[in-house]
Amino acid sequence: MASQLNAASLEAYWMPFTANRQFKARPRLFVAARDMHYVTADGRRVLDGTAGLWCVNAGHCRAPIVEAIARQAAELDYAPAFQMGHPKAFELAERVAGLTPDELNHIFFTNSGSEAVDTALKIARAYHALRGEAGRTWLIGRERGYHGVGLAGLSVGGIMSNRQLFGPLLPATDHLGQTHYPEHNAFSRGEPSWGAHLADELERLVALHGARSIAAVIVEPVAGSAGVLVPPKGYLSRLRQICDRYGILLIFDEVITGFGRLGAPFASQFFGVQPDIITMAKGITNATVPMGAVAVRDEIYETFIQASETGIELYHGYTYSGHPLAAAAGLATLELYEREGLFARARELAPYWEEAVHSLKGVRHVIDVRNLGLMAAVELEPAQGRPAARAFEAFIRCFERGVLIRSTADIIALSPPLIVSRGQIDEIVGTLKGVLEELA
Ligand SMILES: Cc1ncc(COP(=O)(O)O)c(C=O)c1O
Repeated sequence: MASQLNAASLEAYWMPFTANRQFKARPRLFVAARDMHYVTADGRRVLDGTAGLWCVNAGHCRAPIVEAIARQAAELDYAPAFQMGHPKAFELAERVAGLTPDELNHIFFTNSGSEAVDTALKIARAYHALRGEAGRTWLIGRERGYHGVGLAGLSVGGIMSNRQLFGPLLPATDHLGQTHYPEHNAFSRGEPSWGAHLADELERLVALHGARSIAAVIVEPVAGSAGVLVPPKGYLSRLRQICDRYGILLIFDEVITGFGRLGAPFASQFFGVQPDIITMAKGITNATVPMGAVAVRDEIYETFIQASETGIELYHGYTYSGHPLAAAAGLATLELYEREGLFARARELAPYWEEAVHSLKGVRHVIDVRNLGLMAAVELEPAQGRPAARAFEAFIRCFERGVLIRSTADIIALSPPLIVSRGQIDEIVGTLKGVLEELA
């Protein structure tokens, strides 16, 4: 069927975050997947070096998840999400709460990471309002942060190309500075030792906007989409301390780092820093059915519940919050993670991964390599006058040679499924090395 697609039949689909014209002139289509591999429309196997889009943590088309979704579709396709429920949404919430840090035991379901972010930001403002601090409305993000594409997520996000055509964005939003300074941090293995003090910029924003006007700070513990920016040692705990000092909620956007990417259930546990709210998506269902979620601290949930004796406590939700297929997929996914010990596996593989990616130091065009858990970025010197072209060309050539990597600006991001073998790590890095050596 896929082979019958021609230029005209590709036209109707307006592809997201894609150069549509280029793609449709030379399409790259996957038609099947299993475990660590995709299969292309022309029958080639492609090793997945990116877990799809940072989301297929247990590998592709895993039987227990596929079967759970099929069973659920036949048994209960949908139950209204408002004023009605179905058992699996409750079971999944309990299961997720078992993985989140100690005090974050209440889970609100969404359909995506973007919705999880908007939900979290709304909860933060409403929480303060219910406690009599309605003046706390400012939302602080960070340069180079990615929090999805909703208008609130964009407003706290810090990637210029995502923002520039859509203004004005939300008022009462501001940004911390980004944390990656190659002159101090290039080729760091794991967390860079320089830069914890960059968290102190929050003090400046407090002084500027007023201590009692800031509702929340949202950061990705490791910035993913902007090219794997690993936080300096001590940076996140310093942010936590400053938030505590001024009664500001700290939100970790763990859409990428959740579900084992760093070798712990969440980055929060990896870094030993507990936020007030966690947003998640992607790995929650191993990407099989769209789902996102927001975990909140018990006291936040209780504030809402106590504020209303009988009525609806939070005027917010989605038709598909806790959708039965997503809930079934989520339960099967979390069982699979546990049965196969995949988070521990990621932790054990991380040193091998680090060695492998840092072997690219000294390879042609490479100006930085950074890594944490099973994530890494290889930054290339931009080709003269053609920013982003070199990394994109590397992506195309790796794809043609059977390895999927991801490029963003002149950065190559790598994040394989947690079932990756050492041999496959070598294959990903070896293929990339070969491609870089021959790139102009
Ligand atoms: C940290 C972070 N937040 C939010 C999102 C948005 O998630 P979605 O694309 O599911 O809306 C992403 C997606 O990559 C992400 O990495």
